[in-house]
Amino acid sequence: MRFQTMAQNYGEIKIPTKVIPKRPNGDENSLLLDMINGSREKEQAPKSEDIQPIQSPVETASFQADSEPNNPTTQLPDDQLMVDVQNLTKIYPGDVKAVNNINFFVKQGEFFGFLGPNGAGKTTTMKILGTLVRKTAGTAKVLGVDVDSNPDFIRRQIGFALQEISLDHLSTGKETLVLQGVLHHMSKKEAEIRADELLELFKLKEAAKRTVGTYSGGMRRRIDLASVLVHKPKLLFLDEPTEGLDPQSRQSIWQYLKQLNDEGVTIFLTTHYMEEADLLCERLAIIDQGVIVALDTPETLKKSIGADIVNLTFDPTQGPVNNETIKTLISQIEDISEIKFLDDTISVFTQNGANKVPAILNLLSGEGIKIESISVSQPSLNDVFLKYTGHQIREEETKTSVVNPMTRMWVRGGR
Ligand SMILES: Nc1ncnc2c1ncn2[C@@H]1O[C@H](COP(=O)(O)OP(=O)(O)OP(=O)(O)O)[C@@H](O)[C@H]1O
Ligand SMILES: [Mg+2]
Repeated sequence: MRFQTMAQNYGEIKIPTKVIPKRPNGDENSLLLDMINGSREKEQAPKSEDIQPIQSPVETASFQADSEPNNPTTQLPDDQLMVDVQNLTKIYPGDVKAVNNINFFVKQGEFFGFLGPNGAGKTTTMKILGTLVRKTAGTAKVLGVDVDSNPDFIRRQIGFALQEISLDHLSTGKETLVLQGVLHHMSKKEAEIRADELLELFKLKEAAKRTVGTYSGGMRRRIDLASVLVHKPKLLFLDEPTEGLDPQSRQSIWQYLKQLNDEGVTIFLTTHYMEEADLLCERLAIIDQGVIVALDTPETLKKSIGADIVNLTFDPTQGPVNNETIKTLISQIEDISEIKFLDDTISVFTQNGANKVPAILNLLSGEGIKIESISVSQPSLNDVFLKYTGHQIREEETKTSVVNPMTRMWVRGGR
């Protein structure tokens, strides 16, 4: 492809999906102008016979969750698969197993998510599907097409927003969008019309003539997202699209994404924000250390916990408490299904958590153990993550959420 010289190097493969023009170097700039002005050689659009038929789903379950929260192998004869991944593995040089034999699919029109901590393998999986990174083993099909057999076709059909935003800071918002349109074989006129539509949709009309370098973080995310939508892809890959944004900007991105999905765009999103996964995703895979440990609707995942959670912290002035003593005491109470220790918090999984609080308080105070806080919650995705992985998704997030004043017992609604 002629403009491949300007493509970014995303680790392993140079791609033209999103081209970042450099200024003011003559060659690249004139190439950019050529493209915008339509004087470059037009690349042939894919022929319809190039499009492989979308396959029926096949047995793909690989994770073993103890309560079988979901079986992704369910036959879906009427659904089309936008993404179909089987036994996918990626080992980077240095024997880093980033993705370890995972299986999942994404149906047409679905809002699907990967929830996982740093280094879980989210970006690697997404880059394999976007044909930016080569897989080591297994199969991966996007729009029915094998990622190795026709990567160019896949790149032209999808929208892919990388985790790291990469924009030309010297281009205006509108130029950024028009360029993407031209690169996707639109005429300059068509690209301009589409750019105006997107600037309106993403509330960037006022800033359309300003250079992207003057945009705030939230505006940059929005223009980046808009730039992958110029060619109206039916399948979007969004790698942590709201990472680092303030709550307000995050909510406006969620609103756009919901709207797109309502209009029929299939979205595969990665995130480490539980609220985001819970709110947006129809189905969710929890991924940790390269392995999918659970996959289902957020609702079913939470129900799979099967209990309320009573969280306890202890008065630090009494010194460290003996976890085993506490476990023995609390285990005497009926219906306690699990007791987990995490840093200075103890989580007791039980039916009717609020009703168990008096008994827990009595038993512990009878042994002279002073409690700093006690709270009852219905299961959240955080609890689901803890159950299936044995740790919190991001330690720094949880430390602030469990400390409550001694006298305050709150009951938090689960999602
Ligand atoms: N190019 C590379 N070479 C070697 N190892 C890599 C490379 N890219 C990623 N890794 C490793 O692969 C693992 C998975 O990384 P990946 O970027 O897919 O995780 P992630 O879930 O996207 O994390 P984050 O939430 O931090 O974005 C990590 O251990 C990472 O260090
Ligand atoms: Mg990542």
